[in-house]
Amino acid sequence: MKKHVAVIGTGYVGLVTGACLAEIGHSVVCVDNNKKKIAVLKKGGVPIYEPGLGEVIQRNRKNGRLSFATSIADGMKKAEYVFIAVNTPPKPDGEADLSYVEAVAREVARLLSRYTLIVDKSTVPVHTGEKVKQVLRLHGRPDADFDVVSNPEFLREGTAVKDFLHPDRVVVGVESKRAERAMRELYAPLKGPLIVTDIKSAELIKHSSNSFLAMKISFINAVAGICERTGADVTKVAEGMGHDPRIGKSFLKAGLGFGGSCFPKDLSAYIKMAEEAGYDFELLKSVQKINAEQRRWVVKRLKKALWTLRGKTVAVWGLAFKPDTDDLRNAPALDIIAELCEEGCLVRAHDPVAMNLAKPRLKGVYFARDAYDAAKGADAVALVTEWGEYKELDMKKVRALVHTPVFLDGRNLFDPDGLVALGFQVHAVGRPSAALPASAVGRTPL
Ligand code: NAD
Ligand code: UGA
Repeated sequence: MKKHVAVIGTGYVGLVTGACLAEIGHSVVCVDNNKKKIAVLKKGGVPIYEPGLGEVIQRNRKNGRLSFATSIADGMKKAEYVFIAVNTPPKPDGEADLSYVEAVAREVARLLSRYTLIVDKSTVPVHTGEKVKQVLRLHGRPDADFDVVSNPEFLREGTAVKDFLHPDRVVVGVESKRAERAMRELYAPLKGPLIVTDIKSAELIKHSSNSFLAMKISFINAVAGICERTGADVTKVAEGMGHDPRIGKSFLKAGLGFGGSCFPKDLSAYIKMAEEAGYDFELLKSVQKINAEQRRWVVKRLKKALWTLRGKTVAVWGLAFKPDTDDLRNAPALDIIAELCEEGCLVRAHDPVAMNLAKPRLKGVYFARDAYDAAKGADAVALVTEWGEYKELDMKKVRALVHTPVFLDGRNLFDPDGLVALGFQVHAVGRPSAALPASAVGRTPL
């Protein structure tokens, strides 16, 4: 049954949520106070790079189920469901800044005119549902009829449309049977299991899921460090571990650490939230520490390979925090390039889609036309983001372009033996290095 939905906040999550709810048959207005973003969308453009999203938006704009607005009042005219999908950035102390959520709740309160579900889609700390309810009561009419729902989102950038339309699970935290029924009706076209909980548990499911995944990544990165010290191969260790269904294969890829807009901020917010609840979440602090250290792998390895770095030219392949997105928020590449520049390196950077967004943030860096151009004359090439197209490169050509054939595979994208056969000195995270003499194995911690 078609429902009327307003989604407030048209970013990575709100736009995907709005477009996909329209795709499964609902009538959706996506609202954002960023006028430029809405203007692009109204003209048929897509303000972010997200594979498959453009098609879903176009289809649903044409069939009239998806439209855009700059005011919450316009978005809410017919809305039975109001999704809050605004940003919840970290404050300097790591706590989640909920002022955007509060501002939306305040405005929504004034506009409530029929029974409405206020659905929190943003990632928020436990107790936010209660606070939103308090704001709605404080600023709304005394007889306002609403339910607050927590409906955390688990999509990943790069595969967001698929993740939303084919979810592993949909979590809804509710306080009434009426709200549960309404959420079941809204998501009826989706096949994934609907997990119904109280609001606080739903809120905690989100932070716990992200923190657990981040913990898996830091765990395997710590194991990679042990592999480097002992001569074992982390890809083999991860494979052997992953076959145990209790462990699972996913999120055991060692690399340069996790980035993005969510894991880093959600870890900080969870640590802070736990602290407020009287618990010192030391485990998660270690996850953060390992992640910060992992980003230093490129520079540490380069020092091993090239000795001094001042004046050396380094090609950096990949800037976005992961492939298939243009998102640079907390991207390891930004920290790595900053460290390279501090060491006095000349950086030649390339990314298939994030170059324009990166340019204003990376002064003094040469932005290459393509990965080959980046490699020209380089003393070393560092693969930082594992874009699929890098795997297709003619590495023989790359070998001919570089000044010295030092290759740092920060994401274990390449077969090291293949590169060694082409004459590269290969350094790969957590794998035996073709560059290290046998005597270094087991004795020289990196
Ligand atoms: P984003 O910054 O891309 O988008 C947020 C949007 O909200 C922006 O366009 C901003 O202009 C808009 N906004 C802020 N205040 C507004 C207001 N008062 N009225 C209208 N619009 C307003 O953020 P995002 O990446 O989409 O994340 C949103 C939330 O979803 C965060 O809490 C995040 O943790 C969570 N989340 C994100 C992802 C992801 O992959 N990015 C996945 C799951 C959950
Ligand atoms: C992550 C979660 O996977 C989503 O479920 C969640 O909804 C989202 O955060 C969120 O809350 O915003 P996302 O940040 O888009 O999604 O990307 P991931 O695929 O999870 O990757 C995050 C980071 O971890 C990337 O930097 C990636 O390179 C890194 N990573 C991932 C590894 O280093 N190793 C792995 O095995 C997996």
